[in-house]
Amino acid sequence: MTTSNSERGTNQAKKLQELINKRQNSSQRLQKKNTHFIAITSGKGGVGKSTISANLGYIFAKYGYKVGVFDADIGLANLDVLFNVRVKKNIIHVLKGQAEIQDVLVQITPNLTLIPGDSGADIFQYSNSHMFETLVNDSTLDDLDVMIIDTGAGIGERTQTFLNIADEVVVITVPDPAAITDAYATIKMTARKRNNIGMILNQVNSEKEALAIFGKIDKVARVNIGGDLRLEYFGKIAQDNVVVTSIKRRHLFVKENPYAQATEDLEKIARQLAKKFEHNILIQNESNSGSGLAGLFHRLVKHFN
Ligand SMILES: Nc1ncnc2c1ncn2[C@@H]1O[C@H](COP(=O)(O)OP(=O)(O)O)[C@@H](O)[C@H]1O
Ligand SMILES: [Mg+2]
Repeated sequence: MTTSNSERGTNQAKKLQELINKRQNSSQRLQKKNTHFIAITSGKGGVGKSTISANLGYIFAKYGYKVGVFDADIGLANLDVLFNVRVKKNIIHVLKGQAEIQDVLVQITPNLTLIPGDSGADIFQYSNSHMFETLVNDSTLDDLDVMIIDTGAGIGERTQTFLNIADEVVVITVPDPAAITDAYATIKMTARKRNNIGMILNQVNSEKEALAIFGKIDKVARVNIGGDLRLEYFGKIAQDNVVVTSIKRRHLFVKENPYAQATEDLEKIARQLAKKFEHNILIQNESNSGSGLAGLFHRLVKHFN
């Protein structure tokens, strides 16, 4: 980056920080709750991130939470396929002034909204735009209890942006050795900025298999990453044909197969995660970053500063 670019970046950042301070000081924005941001990620692609994001979102909504699922891997456009909806525009169109926020959001169920997003780095390209200011101050979706961010795979900067700003990072892997190696690389990279990382073992045959894989990763991480890293086992999801069949039919597997093993597994994980954010929702403190879309953009601004 050249000097002039970085100076420009600093000025942008200052301007945005001023905006945020102004917003925090304004009494009109007395928020009711904090949105809990959960980033779903992996080292390797095709391990179930989008499937888990969509179905977990559905379960949370069914429990009565207000849920947003942010598609941060829009290039592959698979959350819309999983939800069986058509998405034409995303958050970048809003930032370019080519769409209203309301035109971009897709209501899946009364409590569940799909937010066709973009990778964090691209969002910041528009940080100087008038619309970015609007989004930092926008009240759309500010009643969200939880926002699930379906990130792209890999250890790239774009994915890391979302992992750094999230309250919860969940790394998904399957038993295949290449996926495990890549999951470990993601954990190592993410551990530079945070101590708590969760894992879900997908497409396993048993809890025993899942725990054995998790145990190995945890052991290697303790030895080679060390520090204060705390890897947490969030659970496993069985290899289950109903998942494949439902995806083909463009249905959510948890909705179509309430008694399937994979559904039972994901419900268990959902209950555990919900316990974590129940606490967060109720506590309102000064350092919180706000809720909904504004909360997300606020965190992105702070991250890039
Ligand atoms: N628990 C599971 N049981 C069986 N197949 C699964 C399971 N989870 C994911 N899959 C298969 O893996 C494919 C890739 O999942 P997807 O969510 O698109 O991965 P990612 O978003 O990580 O690229 C799905 O289309 C499905 O066929
Ligand atoms: Mg995906």
